[in-house]
Amino acid sequence: MPRVVVAQPNGFCFGVERAIRLAKRGLKEFSRVWTLGELVHNQQVLKELAALGIKPVRRLADVQDGGLVIRAHGCPPGVFAECNRRGIAVIDATCPYVRRVQSVARRLAGEGYQVVVVGERNHPEVKAILAAAGEGARVFSPGRRLKGKIGVVAQTTISREMLKEAVAKLLDFRYTEIRVFDTVCAEVVARQEAAVRLAQRVDAVVVVGGKNSANTRRLTEIVRGQGKPVVHIAGAGELDLRRWRRYGRVGVVAGASTPRSAVEEIARILQDSGCAGGKAQLSF
Ligand code: F3S
Repeated sequence: MPRVVVAQPNGFCFGVERAIRLAKRGLKEFSRVWTLGELVHNQQVLKELAALGIKPVRRLADVQDGGLVIRAHGCPPGVFAECNRRGIAVIDATCPYVRRVQSVARRLAGEGYQVVVVGERNHPEVKAILAAAGEGARVFSPGRRLKGKIGVVAQTTISREMLKEAVAKLLDFRYTEIRVFDTVCAEVVARQEAAVRLAQRVDAVVVVGGKNSANTRRLTEIVRGQGKPVVHIAGAGELDLRRWRRYGRVGVVAGASTPRSAVEEIARILQDSGCAGGKAQLSF
């Protein structure tokens, strides 16, 4: 029977849910709460937070009175120092899994390892990990020969395949020692594995999540790697239904900062629009 199938797990990951909870709790203490960058990659949720008094700022200079939330991605130690200097009260919502990567990187650097972070150079999480490890830490770059003993950590939202490939490339050179910490988040791995399973069961896949969400982009790449038609949309408004009517089974996968309500809305629109033959059975 044709149907719309929604991958499990979906909804906010532990770290994003915790960051939202801490920001809301901050409202009990401060009249206004700011977040350094967007707390989640979802416009609807951002609007709801803004209505409560939780708004993003791009720079510390834009923080007015109130508390400042550090997002689940974390931020460089210098930001905490700057907040302290400016008298800004900080609500640290750095995900504990991200904080662990930072402390592993710091420890490796302290033990004399050349720290290599496998991830996206310009991603805020990666910048924060590099800053935690201090000078000399660098983002993995294939073909680049490094010196001394190597300590590897991963951005929490990359795929384990990316980490394995990076380690294999590092082994192209001879180093006295390479220590690898698999710091890819278990929640991310679960979603990536679910995306692979789903892609194998359906004719095409809709990936839902912010365009600037690293883990959502990765899900899109993973589905594409399974040879299935895939589209990455930020929300229901971007759904081109004419395209989806031709498929018998459509899968819906979501990134870690996409609320469950957004996933369910898209699944229902696909179903109601006559996608999957118009008699689709919605399966969560
Ligand atoms: Fe944390 Fe993993 Fe989410 S690292 S922010 S629980 S994707």
